[in-house]
Amino acid sequence: MQNLLKINQNFAKLPANYLFVEIADRVRNFSREHPEAEILRLGIGDVTRPLPAAVVEAMAAASREMGRAETFRGYGPEAGYPFLREAISKNEFRDRGVEIAPDEIFVSDGAKSDTGNIGDIFGTDNVVAVCDPVYPVYVDTNVMAGRAGDYREGSGFSNIVYMPCRRENGFLPEIPSRRADMVYLCFPNNPTGMGISRKELEKWVAYARRNGSVLLYDAAYEAFITDPDMPHSIFEIDGAKKCAIEFRSFSKTAGFTGVRCAYTVIPKELEFGGVSLNRLWARRQSTKMNGVSYIVQRGAQAVFSDAGKRGVRENIAYYQENARMMLEGLAKAGFSVWGGVNSPYVWLRVPEGMTSWQFFDSLLQKTGVVGTPGSGFGSCGEGYFRLTSFNTHENTRKAIGRIVQAFAGR
Ligand SMILES: Cc1ncc(COP(=O)(O)O)c(C=O)c1O
Repeated sequence: MQNLLKINQNFAKLPANYLFVEIADRVRNFSREHPEAEILRLGIGDVTRPLPAAVVEAMAAASREMGRAETFRGYGPEAGYPFLREAISKNEFRDRGVEIAPDEIFVSDGAKSDTGNIGDIFGTDNVVAVCDPVYPVYVDTNVMAGRAGDYREGSGFSNIVYMPCRRENGFLPEIPSRRADMVYLCFPNNPTGMGISRKELEKWVAYARRNGSVLLYDAAYEAFITDPDMPHSIFEIDGAKKCAIEFRSFSKTAGFTGVRCAYTVIPKELEFGGVSLNRLWARRQSTKMNGVSYIVQRGAQAVFSDAGKRGVRENIAYYQENARMMLEGLAKAGFSVWGGVNSPYVWLRVPEGMTSWQFFDSLLQKTGVVGTPGSGFGSCGEGYFRLTSFNTHENTRKAIGRIVQAFAGR
């Protein structure tokens, strides 16, 4: 039995991701014991509003084109059709005063894939920095690549620089004392729901320029920004084109979680040691993927039509109204709450003396409401809890009403 195939041993270092499995188990057990209880899910990170009609019509028309020999299309350009790259460049950047050319935009099937795959173009001996709590994809994909070092109970991976985001620092990461080459930032943030001001973001651009680091900026929730002082794109900050990559998605903005379409912006100015990251990513993508379906890209293009923009605004406003109800009700119930203003996520402090998981159980028992324990996103998430505004008005109202009844005056 010598010469056995060798697997990627880095996978053995991945901490088991029990979070959503454990949540499902606990909800199943609760339902078995209380078959009459109505479960209200405010834990999901998935949207519920249907696609804007303009998007549906564009995709239907594109399907019909695929059914006729004269208009049928096979493989498209790997980085996306020019019609979509141009629509993104104009509507998301140029109209906001930011010059991003269509060939700096790479269309893909999701920000999850892009944030997970971007590591392919970087050396495995780079030091990675992430926020704690964090969207787990940034950490796990670096573990798979061998960049994370060894896992130590209590302190996490030896080669990852964790940037605690706690109440004391307004849930914003502080510039790390140790040098990091690849810094993942996500604003508005999942899970804390916090946005970042222009001034704060300028500090990160300055840090990256000073250190020759790259900022990997995940703006998947930018459509939820209401504060005029919050940048929608890192490229609104001077100098960012020389140090940042931005990830965007149609998932949470236009309801594309099931349709799948996103894009990554890599400016041509972004070079390290004379090597263009735009060219490296083009090479990586054209080698490993064959683009996003024509039908989906026509749907994404329709997001920028007048009717599409209106439909998106209505859906976002719908979730924002849920978030407003949640913030109001949770405050009435005596909770300290953050987020929910520039984000679909509400982050709350669990009652004194409880862990995130104990609060999960208590909330489920008392109200039938399911949320997500903050500790599932990193050790600094312990003592916090995430609720999302993606359910219906009716369910959100009902859930918050029950929480107020169960916890007010506790
Ligand atoms: C921070 C963050 N980035 C990316 C994604 C994934 O986006 P997509 O649906 O485009 O893959 C999510 C999804 O929940 C997310 O929370």
